[in-house]
Amino acid sequence: MSIEKSKQAEELLQQHNQAHIIKFMNNLNEKERELLENQILSIDFAQMKELYDSTKKTVEIKENKIEEISYFDKQKLGSSKKEQLDELGARIVSSGKYAVVTMAGGQGTRLEHPGPKGTFKLDVYGKGKYLFEILIDNLKEANKKYGVVIPWYIMTSQQNHDETKEFLEKHSYFGYDKNSVILFKQGELPLIDHNGKLLIGKNKLIKLASDGNGGTFTSLRTSGALANMKERGIKWVFIGGVDNVLLKMVDTTLLGLAIEQNVQIASKSIPKASPKEKVGVFCKMNGHPKVIEYSELPEKMAEEISSSGELKYGESHIMCNLFTIEAVEKISKEPLIYHKALKKNAYLDETGKEIIPQDLNAYKFESFIFDAFPFFDDIAILRGKREDDFAPVKNKEGIDSPKTAKELYEKFWKKVEK
Ligand code: UD1
Repeated sequence: MSIEKSKQAEELLQQHNQAHIIKFMNNLNEKERELLENQILSIDFAQMKELYDSTKKTVEIKENKIEEISYFDKQKLGSSKKEQLDELGARIVSSGKYAVVTMAGGQGTRLEHPGPKGTFKLDVYGKGKYLFEILIDNLKEANKKYGVVIPWYIMTSQQNHDETKEFLEKHSYFGYDKNSVILFKQGELPLIDHNGKLLIGKNKLIKLASDGNGGTFTSLRTSGALANMKERGIKWVFIGGVDNVLLKMVDTTLLGLAIEQNVQIASKSIPKASPKEKVGVFCKMNGHPKVIEYSELPEKMAEEISSSGELKYGESHIMCNLFTIEAVEKISKEPLIYHKALKKNAYLDETGKEIIPQDLNAYKFESFIFDAFPFFDDIAILRGKREDDFAPVKNKEGIDSPKTAKELYEKFWKKVEK
């Protein structure tokens, strides 16, 4: 590290209220110092200030600008309409213009599974199936049906990338064509404490954490995955989560609906089970489609009933989203808002001593995939059925746990195979 760069790093820390790191650096050897200084020079301090300022504000939802969203109910489409939409969708898939992205960068903390979430084995049919394997089965089935190999893009995090790759290689990609599986990493952002101070981790570097699943779009572009899609002639991109064992990644009715409605984004929903269910819900805000996350939905709105007697904000976002390639590109260049979450995080103090906090001490910032929806005038929503479309593995026990997912998964396949 040149003296010039060292000086630059120190100045940045002074200017941005991070002098504790200068003190910490005094105890480092040359190599450690260089690594930390390089990291400091890569941090966008103006963005960190904005994020810190945002922790002082509460999220405000002005209800008068919010309306319920309209949707198409798959059960009520009628068979000829459904066939027509399926045909429209199938034409895209069978001509190789469809790609799938799985967001697998989450930590799965609630599940208490030590590895990447996709490597969790669900106890189904005696011998069990990994979550990645369940997704691959879904894709293989579509490939057979439409005579193609759908390219599969998996978003990992810095933390779980190598482990995810090793796992897939060890299992020979569960028989999927390796050349059609593309892994790309999501971005990270520093954690900050209540006073806007960056935290130092055990590795003597500034503590970073994944920047949320809204980072998918930018990461697709910066990693080259988006360019890869374009080279392959992809027109529609499905983006889904890793943890719903009934996720239909190739739903030609949804795709056909998006094409017919002439929209750039589409999403599958299911009716919310109860006002308290932990799912985001669709609405229209200022005339644009939007999802309000469960953590930010006011109780009064969650309980509101519509004229049809259902929950007014009851179309659940189940992480089953479709975008045109143009939409992905557009979003990848727009900044998404960040949501804050206060977490407990151990850190090293100025003297290098590890501090294990008793209370929540650090803000993590995440953007959410659905915050891209308001960039568009409209969205096509297809209401599916819980028993066909949604069996998430979120918690170790109780609701949305391996036990509930196993039951739903086995019940669904029993019905289909009858
Ligand atoms: C998510 C949705 C919620 C929806 C619910 C349905 C968000 C913010 N919320 O909630 O609206 O109703 O699923 O199951 O999306 N992920 C990454 N990188 C990250 C964070 C998450 O790839 O930095 C991935 C996870 O691996 C997972 C998906 O995003 O596949 C969902 O993330 P998670 O944090 O589990 O969201 P939920 O709280 O379950």
